[in-house]
Amino acid sequence: MFRTMKSDIQAVFDNDPAARSVFEVVLTYSGLHAIWAHRVAHWFYVRRWFMIARIISQFSRFMTGVEIHPGARIGQRLFIDHGMGVVIGETCEIGDDVLLFQGVTLGGTGKESGKRHPTIGNHVVISSGAKVLGSFTVGDNSKIGANAIVLSEVPPNSTVVGLKARVVKRDGVSLNKLDHDKLPDPLIDLFQQMETRIQELKHEVEQLKTEMRNQNGGVQPYESKSV
Ligand SMILES: CC(C)(COP(=O)(O)OP(=O)(O)OC[C@H]1O[C@@H](n2cnc3c(N)ncnc32)[C@H](O)[C@@H]1OP(=O)(O)O)[C@@H](O)C(=O)NCCC(=O)NCCS
Repeated sequence: MFRTMKSDIQAVFDNDPAARSVFEVVLTYSGLHAIWAHRVAHWFYVRRWFMIARIISQFSRFMTGVEIHPGARIGQRLFIDHGMGVVIGETCEIGDDVLLFQGVTLGGTGKESGKRHPTIGNHVVISSGAKVLGSFTVGDNSKIGANAIVLSEVPPNSTVVGLKARVVKRDGVSLNKLDHDKLPDPLIDLFQQMETRIQELKHEVEQLKTEMRNQNGGVQPYESKSV
């Protein structure tokens, strides 16, 4: 237990440059308090002491502004920065070394039963205000942008942003860039049309010359004309 608490404290130092001393972290980091309260609540939850588990969870919510359902399964070194407004649903699973900012919801859509909350991989960052809704997986090492609304699976090593969120980066490479070279250019289009027409006309002239040469017994039309 103490090893887990120590690694929880270390996670704060790893993620928050503003953290100064262990004393300060233990006393003032509400995200840390919420995680510790959750570990106790979850202990009761898995032993089917649901009411005690809920009371601890709600007391923690009152004190920290972070609501973690006691049924949620949380890995090692989760860090909830700033805390306030975070909601984590009952069937949510969170891997190791995950970073959540204020205002994150790991919830359900209201359309699923049973497993209805997301599974978050290892080393995932979920930025402030993001909503991750549904029973899909967010792959390892992915980042979810601030205020994104994520409604479907996120592949590993991806960055997703927007409402509804789409992948904009995978394995460090940007996707969906605006293709400036593919923007329509009316002048280039006009020149291409002219070029095509010139080629067609050249072809027609060649055909006409061939026909006239055949009619003139193999003599080039302009040659017969010049004679
Ligand atoms: C998503 C995030 C983690 C950055 O991840 P990243 O993999 O480094 O991605 P990039 O910064 O390269 O951004 C990729 C693209 O998404 C865009 N983008 C990034 N975050 C976005 C967001 N929240 N909403 C919309 N678009 C966003 C970028 O402008 C960029 O677009 P471009 O490729 O057209 O230039 C970061 O932008 C973010 O949202 N951080 C918020 C952290 C936070 O909550 N802080 C609160 C502290 S209190």
